Amino acid sequence: MSDPSIDAEGRLRHLITLDGLGRARIEGLLERAVSLRAQFRAGATSLPLLAGRTIVNLFFEASTRTRTSFELAARRLGATVVNFDIASSSTSKGETLEDTLATIEAMGTDAFVVRHKENGTPARLAAHARRAAILNAGDGNRAHPTQGLLDLLTIRDHKQRIDGLTVAICGDIRHSRVARSAVHGRRALGAAGIRLWGPAALLPDPDEFPGCSLVDDFDAALDDVDVIVMLRIQKERIEHLPGLDEREYFSRYGLDRARLARAKRDAIVMHPGPMNRGIEIADEVADGPRSVILEQVANGIHARMAVLAELLAPH
Ligand code: CP
Repeated sequence: MSDPSIDAEGRLRHLITLDGLGRARIEGLLERAVSLRAQFRAGATSLPLLAGRTIVNLFFEASTRTRTSFELAARRLGATVVNFDIASSSTSKGETLEDTLATIEAMGTDAFVVRHKENGTPARLAAHARRAAILNAGDGNRAHPTQGLLDLLTIRDHKQRIDGLTVAICGDIRHSRVARSAVHGRRALGAAGIRLWGPAALLPDPDEFPGCSLVDDFDAALDDVDVIVMLRIQKERIEHLPGLDEREYFSRYGLDRARLARAKRDAIVMHPGPMNRGIEIADEVADGPRSVILEQVANGIHARMAVLAELLAPH
């Protein structure tokens, strides 16, 4: 069956997941992000690549970083952006998502940026869209592809490569779309070893993470790693949250300076945000010299500009 994310000429039509996108395409997006970033750093305040295009943000779940940076990315490339207000929309009168999409698409929309708690919603809308591109801004615990791209960009900035790096992803991996997209992207680009560590109840089915090792000891997971990714507990995706005392969680599972010392001396600390300080990460680490968390945020705009340009700019 053909991949609906790729058009008849082999171009990217939607961005639903990094899984299966392939090394060349992912590297192409990263190169494009670096090139756009260089132009803005050199003084450009806007580029007209998407002039005349209309992009609608459809966020059915809360967001600070993704929604804002998609909007800034689109505006910096000259697009018109509409932030669709779900609460005051006719979805509250029972209109289906498909009808909502078709209605806004009929107004001349070129792309929808979609976040939804249900796995598969962006793919479902992509199958329904007539001409608009669908960009997944996070669906359930399945995928968050632009987060995966901005993470790769940030790692390359510091390590100049992905091949051969050892990465530890720590925390609530079971419910994390960020972890899944991180693994999809890093595997495609040749990360040597990906270790997954977290409380037993928050670890995933290993079959979902081929090529990764599940480690049951935090110190062992951090031993000599190049990159540490800390994740928050995704409370909104856990039906029966076991009684977790936050102080106890931090003492057993939180990253502090002493634990960070297990990693390589030049290891970087990443977190997709939002952070729960004092639960999965200490202030001294989040704000410390190894933290690249705000660089991830800044790179979010560049990665999203690259994706929007790839999907919507004239070829
Ligand atoms: N990383 C991330 O998706 O953050 P937001 O939920 O704030 O968009």
